Order: sequence, then structure tokens, then C-alpha cells
Amino acid sequence: MRTQVGIIGAGPAGLMLSHLLHLDHIETVILEHRSREEIEGTIRAGVLEHGTVDLMNQLGIGRRMMKEGHIHHGIELQFNGKRHRINMHDLTGGKDIMLYAQHEVIKDLVEARLQTGGQIFFNVKDVSLHNIETKNPYIQFRSGEGEELQRIYCDFIAGCDGFHGPSRKAIPKEARQEKQKIYPFGWLGILAKTPPVNSELVYTNHEKGFALLSTRSPEIQRHYLQVDPKDDINNWSDDRIWMELHERVDMEDGWTIKDGPIIQKNIVPMRSFVCETMRYGNLFLAGDAAHIVPPTGAKGLNLAIADVQVLAKGLHEYYKISEENLLNRYAEICLRRVWKAQRFSWWMTTMLHRDYEHTPYEQGIQLAELDYVTSSNHAAASLAENYVGLPLEINMLHTTISS
Ligand code: APR
Ligand code: PHB
Repeated sequence: MRTQVGIIGAGPAGLMLSHLLHLDHIETVILEHRSREEIEGTIRAGVLEHGTVDLMNQLGIGRRMMKEGHIHHGIELQFNGKRHRINMHDLTGGKDIMLYAQHEVIKDLVEARLQTGGQIFFNVKDVSLHNIETKNPYIQFRSGEGEELQRIYCDFIAGCDGFHGPSRKAIPKEARQEKQKIYPFGWLGILAKTPPVNSELVYTNHEKGFALLSTRSPEIQRHYLQVDPKDDINNWSDDRIWMELHERVDMEDGWTIKDGPIIQKNIVPMRSFVCETMRYGNLFLAGDAAHIVPPTGAKGLNLAIADVQVLAKGLHEYYKISEENLLNRYAEICLRRVWKAQRFSWWMTTMLHRDYEHTPYEQGIQLAELDYVTSSNHAAASLAENYVGLPLEINMLHTTISS
């Protein structure tokens, strides 16, 4: 088999890249080791930056998002028992975010690819990358357990296979530098059958730890609690989760969170991670394959979508005008944005979580940071600008993707 761009992974990065390239008449094949049901059912975060929303609409795949998603103009920060609103809309000159779950974005992208004849191989096994430093790279895989090995020859491989996939590891160790920070926090996330409790997200710093109130639909809410990352979800009965949420988010004026049946719960650890470089030979890494952020800034999906826009544009210039300059600058352009999102995600995480190793002095500094960001328009504007999404570097380059 032969294609122009072989894509490993059908997450937001791989699917969006395939769709962008399809619209530019560039051929792709996607290899995904999970089933369609699994990728469409895995619960992840759900905040889309304004640029991601605009892109979905421009590409004609935003119809369901506009109908079922919810536009939020601000967020709330709660500490010392009080809530403070960050009016992102006003602070950014009219930009908002969209609450729309990642697995719904995946459904829309899979549907768009399959409707336009896109090739996605689900349930593949033993994916490996070969000859990536040459002009004839290929991907080897089995179409199912026990099937024969097959090869896809391509001009380029896009490694969109998340943090644990084989793509990053195919870059020789001496050609990449991995920089990371592991946090002493984990997030216990729940999906609960309850009505919404607030019209905007509430990020809470409480002496017992961080809590986040989010939403999915008028019937289903998504909430999170800071827990020990090594804790076992079996230690958390539904009653214990609700008790802890009440303690951290209920207000003195009688405002209280509403309990309901919990339909899903799990604990995820938190890390920040950057792989430098994001390109080796004709392999390009995008999304979680190259970088991870803690979810506090809601940047994971949006960063993946930003990477593939740069890659799609670089590939456009390569195929349509035989120009390689942008492809050669792919890692440099993406990493500037990645590091800014790293900084923001680290900052939000550090400001909002309780670190039990902190001295009283460090706790004082943390509360001063929250006080500052909620009382200074300049500080609040900086939070808002980052939260709704910094401008795409690609839009600042002086070339455009032709349709
Ligand atoms: N072979 C084929 N596919 C693989 C392999 C492999 N060996 N390993 C992983 N994959 C697939 C995964 O099953 C997954 O569907 O690659 C896909 C990677 O998708 P994501 O992990 O969603 O990564 P990405 O597309 O970069 O999107 C980043 O997704 O994980 C969230 O929080 C993250 O919001 C962020 C966003
Ligand atoms: C979510 O709704 O899942 C969510 C919202 C905001 C975050 C992280 C996750 O910062």
C-alpha cells in the first residue's frame, strides 16, 4: 500500500490532520489500534478554545458542536470561601470557549473522514515505523491479531499516537530531549446524572484540595477532585465523593452542589512533558505524542489541533509549491506555542492545587496569586487571553492555505 502521509493514531490530532489534508487533496491513511467504539466512547476533557471552534466551523464539521455544545463567556475561581468571575469575553475583546466533550469531536471527525472516503484502519496491531530518516519511510502493522504484517509506504509519517504510542520512541534517544514535571496531584473525575449547578466552570482552591465543577449536558455533569495520584478509585465510594465535593465547593450563603447517581469515575495522574524535537527526518510528531499538559488549563486537545494546522500548511507548501521552508520550521513554530501552553497549564495547576509539602509562607504566596488574578484587570486579562487560546502562529505567517 502507498499513500502520501501515513498517520498513526485516530485521536484529535490524527483525525484533524487527515481531514485538513483531504480538503487539500493530499492522501492519507490512518492506523488506529483501538476500535471505533472505544475511541468514540473514551471520556476526556471538554473545553474548546475559540480558535478550535472557528476551525471546526470553517471546515464544515461544527454543526453538532454548535447545537449541542455550550458557549461560556467566563469562568469562576473560588478560594477563601468566595467566588470571583473572570469575564473572558470582555477581557479578550469578545472571545469565548465552547464546552463540547472530546469524544464528541472525535465522533464528528470520524464521521467526516468516513463520509468523504477517508481510510481509517481500526484495531490494527504491532505498528512500527521504519526508514524515517530517508525519503521512503514506511509503517508496518497487522490489520488484526494474528494477521500478516503489511506495509504502508509514504512520503511522510505523522506520529499522532498519544503519549504511549511508538512514534516518539522511533526517534533515536540522542536526537530528542525529553523535559518533564510530575505533580504530586491526581484528578478523580466523575460523570454524574444531575442538573447543572452553575452556568460556568468553577475552579476551587480549598484547604482540602482542588475541585472543578464542569458540565456535559443539561442532564450530565463532569466534576473533578484533587486526590493522591496513587490512590485507588475503589477507595472512593459515591457517598465519599459527594461528601468531599460538598466540603470543597459549598458556600456559606447556602449554595450547594447537587448529588446524583455517578455513572463513571476514575483517577488520572498529572504531568507536564515536552519532547524536543517534534521532527526527525520525515517523521513529524503532533499532539500528546510530543507534549502533555496537566488538564487544569484545558489545553491538551487544543494544542493537538494547533500542531496539525501547522503541519497541514507545511505539507500544503511542500506538495503544491515545492517549498520546504515551513516543514523545516515545524518543530520550532509548534514548540513556541507548546511552551506557552506549558507555562499556563503549570501556572493554573500550581495556583489552584494544595501542595501538602507547602510551608505556610508558600500557601500565603498562593493565595496572594489568586487574590491578584481576581482583583487586577491586567492579571485577569492575561489568564483570559491564555484560557481562550493565544493567536495561532500559523495565522501570523504570510502565506495561506488555498482551498
Ligand atoms: N498504534 C496505533 N494507534 C495508537 C497506538 C499504536 N501503537 N498507540 C496509541 N494509538 C492511538 C490511541 O489509541 C489514540 O486513539 O493514538 C491515538 C492518540 O490519541 P490521543 O491520545 O487522544 O492524542 P492526540 O490526538 O494527540 O490528542 C491530544 O487527547 O489524550 C487527549 O488529553 C489529551 O486532549 C488531549 C488530546
Ligand atoms: C472538563 O469539562 O472535562 C474539563 C474542563 C476544564 C478543565 C479540564 C477538564 O480545565
